[in-house]
Amino acid sequence: MIKGQMPRYYIETWGCQMNEEDSEKLAGMLKKMGYTGTLKREEASVIIFNTCCVRENAELKVYGNVGALKKLKEANPDLIIAICGCMMQQKGVADEIMKKFPHVDIVFGTHNAYKFPEYLSRVKQDSVRVKEIVDKETEIVEGVPIERQSDYKAFVTIMYGCNNFCTYCVVPYVRGRERSRRPEEIEKEIKDLVEQGYKEITLLGQNVNSYGKGLEPQITFADLLKRIDRIPGLDRVRFMTSHPKDLSDDVIQAIKEGSKLCEQIHLPVQSGSTRILKKMNRSYTREAYLELVEKIKREIPGVSLTTDIIVGFPGETEEDFQDTLSLVEKVEYDSAFTFIYSRRKYTPADRMEDQIEDSVKHERFNKLIELVNNIAAKKNKEYEGKIVEVLVEGESKNDSSKLTGRTRTGKLVNFIGDSKGIGSLRMVKITKAQSFSLMGEEI
Ligand code: 5AD
Ligand code: SF4
Repeated sequence: MIKGQMPRYYIETWGCQMNEEDSEKLAGMLKKMGYTGTLKREEASVIIFNTCCVRENAELKVYGNVGALKKLKEANPDLIIAICGCMMQQKGVADEIMKKFPHVDIVFGTHNAYKFPEYLSRVKQDSVRVKEIVDKETEIVEGVPIERQSDYKAFVTIMYGCNNFCTYCVVPYVRGRERSRRPEEIEKEIKDLVEQGYKEITLLGQNVNSYGKGLEPQITFADLLKRIDRIPGLDRVRFMTSHPKDLSDDVIQAIKEGSKLCEQIHLPVQSGSTRILKKMNRSYTREAYLELVEKIKREIPGVSLTTDIIVGFPGETEEDFQDTLSLVEKVEYDSAFTFIYSRRKYTPADRMEDQIEDSVKHERFNKLIELVNNIAAKKNKEYEGKIVEVLVEGESKNDSSKLTGRTRTGKLVNFIGDSKGIGSLRMVKITKAQSFSLMGEEI
């Protein structure tokens, strides 16, 4: 570090929005300690990798990246390297990282990230290595400082953990049981954000629809949405993720009636086959899911539906896969995250005998992506000629003469407009639809 300069931190995040929000908190704590962020690993005095273990691919990338840090540590022995997140909560992984990578200084898990400043001081003052993994979820810790990535959009976690135990998923094991934040804390955080100029918030939770369980006085997710919809100065509210078995009529009505609640629902289906859904422990059938989708479309005209789909789950036959394709055709998702089933240690699906061959998984995956993309392009085409409300986020990444932002339905729009509009809502006429974005002109 050059004398007189603020020390820098570099954080790399894998995985979902939950992890991104955790990283924003780590950044917030580092800022309080006098650090400033950098996008270059070589400039950093502290490097943090916030890891994901939902699929094997994500894990392999982490190992490769941690190994590559050895050179940086050799060039700068004062560099402090910390590895955290979901991967560290898995049995044996933290020990393995400590053993295999002596250049790693700190390892911690998802339940004790708020203690990072303490771990950092210990390493700096006592020249020790720190490994601390807490197995069981703790009380929710409020008031952790947070350094947000955007000036206009923010994530606000409303609940932690998951009780669903889908048979393929490690999340309940690494994030613990469901715990909801108190509504007053959530409201306070959002009001503070509005005061700082934030326009859009996304409420986060593994299963936001079961928000409120165990809180006194009783409150449902729909009640929370209605409370948030009344916050003055806020323009948009989104939320994710909804479990189809728990998305209530009250929530649909809240979106229909609320002025800030955006017409967009992320509703992971995972499979279109009732037989596979049962093996996945998803607690709904294909028919029930399709009925729910019909209801949502009827009640919220123009709604954008997105989803997660897994192909190659153990025992998935060609017929089951065709059921997934036909469901995708019926629902016409605006976009979908598609995944190849990945075996995860300690999950029930990993112990199922009828695992699917890689070549079959890949073939199905490619077919699914093609269908999903064709439908997404068709849905985008419907926007041509329409006038939409865009929250302007800044200059377009690929073309600085254009601005970029999103519609209420979550579509990315690159458009010609006045840069004074950055950070506000503008009306844009869509001139052309592309596969993954829309082009337009401000009116
Ligand atoms: N293999 C593939 N995809 C998975 N997901 C979760 N676990 C696995 C797994 N073992 C997907 C699900 C979930 C999304 C976040 O990740 O579709 O909704
Ligand atoms: Fe994983 Fe299922 Fe919980 Fe989602 S609902 S986090 S897929 S166990």
